[in-house]
Amino acid sequence: MTEAQVCRRLTGRVAVVTGAGSGIGLASARRLAAEGAKVVCADLDEATGRAVAREVGGLFVHTDVTDPYMVEALFDEAYETYGSVDVAFNNAGISPPEDDSILTTGLDTWRRVQEANLTSVYLCCRSALPYMRRHGRGSIINTASFVARMGAATSRISYTASKGGVLAMSRELGVQFAREGIRVNALCPGPVDTALLRELFAEDPARAARRLVHIPVGRFARPEEIAAAVAFLASDDSSFITASEFLVDGGISGAYVTSR
Ligand SMILES: NC(=O)c1ccc[n+]([C@@H]2O[C@H](COP(=O)([O-])OP(=O)(O)OC[C@H]3O[C@@H](n4cnc5c(N)ncnc54)[C@H](O)[C@@H]3O)[C@@H](O)[C@H]2O)c1
Repeated sequence: MTEAQVCRRLTGRVAVVTGAGSGIGLASARRLAAEGAKVVCADLDEATGRAVAREVGGLFVHTDVTDPYMVEALFDEAYETYGSVDVAFNNAGISPPEDDSILTTGLDTWRRVQEANLTSVYLCCRSALPYMRRHGRGSIINTASFVARMGAATSRISYTASKGGVLAMSRELGVQFAREGIRVNALCPGPVDTALLRELFAEDPARAARRLVHIPVGRFARPEEIAAAVAFLASDDSSFITASEFLVDGGISGAYVTSR
């Protein structure tokens, strides 16, 4: 989408994006900025995080989202710099290969994934909410996944459980804070064509083809397509949507058998 085609629904809004250095976070930082938001880019990776902040004219805050002090400092800095926290896109997450079947996944791996994917979202929501309550408005978007809704035979057990936790936590927060003007939604992307996925399937194209069969639209999502949903959930266009499981999955969760 060209800049001219993007609407400016977020002028005057401040958006914090975690995991902004890559993939969905990167595309979302770009989209939110294109729609007029001031974007605070948080990432563990300094080089990529700093680069995207520079590109979108925003602020980079070096953050490990598993560290409660760094997360608090991130939202403090966003508020002190720009005067509000209107959007929190809590998106950073990991899916390491050693997180596999429950039969082989060690407790260390289980815990590392829970910390990065679920505890991090708890920490970000806990730090964002007081600023949103102060202004009586806000939109929190927590990245879950379609695997929070569907079981996979090729298991990543801690990842799936962590995303199920994100879904349940987002629903509860959405209900709790609805009357304060704060919306909380869980974004559930289907498989996205990011560097990680491309690398995985470059080694084994047959594996990619097997997965594509289950996606009715017949391809993986582009990060920009997920970012478009993020911008919608961030904006007032979604003012009556809260506590939802917002699926952006190309129909995968609706399909029983393969499409023709
Ligand atoms: N790619 C997919 O197919 C897919 C599908 C569904 C859900 N998701 C979810 O979407 C989110 C983003 O995924 P992506 O594919 O864009 O991943 P990615 O690996 O491209 O980007 C993740 C970013 O998060 C950062 N990060 C990782 N751990 C961090 C930490 N502790 N603190 C701060 N930053 C950290 C990384 O440095 C990276 O920049 C994740 O939560 C992922 O689980 C991805």
